[in-house]
Amino acid sequence: MEGQGEGGTFAGDPRKPVALTFRKRHLPNGFRRLGAVIKKILLNEEDIPERWYNILPDMPAPPAPYLNPQTLLPMGPADLAPIFPQAIIAQEVSAEPWIEIPDEVREIYRIWRPSPVYRADRLEKALDTPAHIYFKYEGVSPAGSHKPNTAVPQAYYNAKEGVKRLTTETGAGQWGSALAFAGALFGLEVTVYMVKVSYDQKPYRRAMMETWGAKVYASPTNLTNAGRGILADDPDSPGSLGIAISEAVEDAATHDDAKYSLGSVVNHVLLHQTVMGLEAKKQMEMAGEYPDVVIACVGGGSNFAGLTYPFIGDRLKGRMPHTRFVAAEPAACPTLTRGVYAYDFGDAVGMGPVVKMFTLGHSFVPDRIHSGGLRYHGDAPSLCALVDHKVVEARAYKQKEVFAEAVNFARCEGFLPAPESAHALRAVAEEAAAAREAGEKRSILFGLSGHGHFDMSAYDAYFAGKLEDIELSQSRIDAAIEELPRVPALS
Ligand SMILES: Cc1ncc(COP(=O)(O)O)c(C=O)c1O
Repeated sequence: MEGQGEGGTFAGDPRKPVALTFRKRHLPNGFRRLGAVIKKILLNEEDIPERWYNILPDMPAPPAPYLNPQTLLPMGPADLAPIFPQAIIAQEVSAEPWIEIPDEVREIYRIWRPSPVYRADRLEKALDTPAHIYFKYEGVSPAGSHKPNTAVPQAYYNAKEGVKRLTTETGAGQWGSALAFAGALFGLEVTVYMVKVSYDQKPYRRAMMETWGAKVYASPTNLTNAGRGILADDPDSPGSLGIAISEAVEDAATHDDAKYSLGSVVNHVLLHQTVMGLEAKKQMEMAGEYPDVVIACVGGGSNFAGLTYPFIGDRLKGRMPHTRFVAAEPAACPTLTRGVYAYDFGDAVGMGPVVKMFTLGHSFVPDRIHSGGLRYHGDAPSLCALVDHKVVEARAYKQKEVFAEAVNFARCEGFLPAPESAHALRAVAEEAAAAREAGEKRSILFGLSGHGHFDMSAYDAYFAGKLEDIELSQSRIDAAIEELPRVPALS
């Protein structure tokens, strides 16, 4: 890059340095800082983290064990073998605080990582706040969100262990796209069960997955027992993430050459996502600030965990005791704010592990909101434990207020947020107002987990006044919670 090069070698693969030399050139008048702030804080490829951060050993209490869905007794690693490769199972139960990122994964991360942190100074002005607002932008990945951060390592470990095909679910299509992309890079076939409501809303997401070579089905399908069962009860079922997970797990468990790949909720996925927070910590250091509050949206929890856990680790170790963490979820699927903290099935028909989490009940089918990626009845067990321990605060928002913030953000900062990510923006606006009222120059960091380029029909509906704010009745939650598995007391 002109004016920046310090003659030297470009060391992509450390074993085979590529002799690319950059000549040092100076701009005639040197650099001139434009504007009052540094707009984007960038890291170099060498700054891609070498290790993922595992929060489990730093948690206030040990994790509740996963239970076998048939026996409701604690599961061992062997119980996970039909659906996950060994390396992933080892990560799922690891008590090591740091886990090395394979070179092959870092090599692919270089396509879009490190992702930028931006200072949202124009949004600060629009919100009339003394707060400094920063955002970590994951829309720069090929699939358009944070999801490839885990899709790539998952595809890598599966390919290394000889797996030929991966099965998965997708809500908004972001996760399915990420796995389709990662599968293409490692020569794996990918089968995606896409929640029907999103399949209908987002034909171009499907085409994107197909471009990377994946096969995509609208879930519930007639291809699995789980799907056939749901369709028998409700032929017009809009589908849900819980149902699509059941289909993908069944497909993997009944085919020897296939394994299942999950886009959120479980420990190894959250672990892989910590590249975001680890980079963001360095970038905030470069900005000379440590966030007073870190905000991200929650579907199953991997986006939130990926950005916040490296900061939460500091707080749990007593280093930054005053930093707050806000999880933003949809009012139509208010898992953390209105769910119960109990053991429940991770999927709709009880094929996958039973985990302790905040849940709306595995039979709960959320209404057809436009944030498909947030329509999940439960959340990551570690995140739920942090909410239970009051380390993380959860807030629920309605669609219209979320889209109002998305539009405001796009008009200030340019980027067009995914509807999921825009939930975080609503919390940012609240925190910005609180800083104004307190007259304090607080520092806010939030995750802009993806772009909304495939969500324009949702923006259209918002502009046409067709978006509905769905009030979820307590009776619907109560009915689903009635169906929680009766777990014997664990000693
Ligand atoms: C753009 C975007 N942000 C956030 C999420 C929620 O992700 P998570 O399940 O990791 O909480 C999704 C889920 O699909 C998404 O597509």
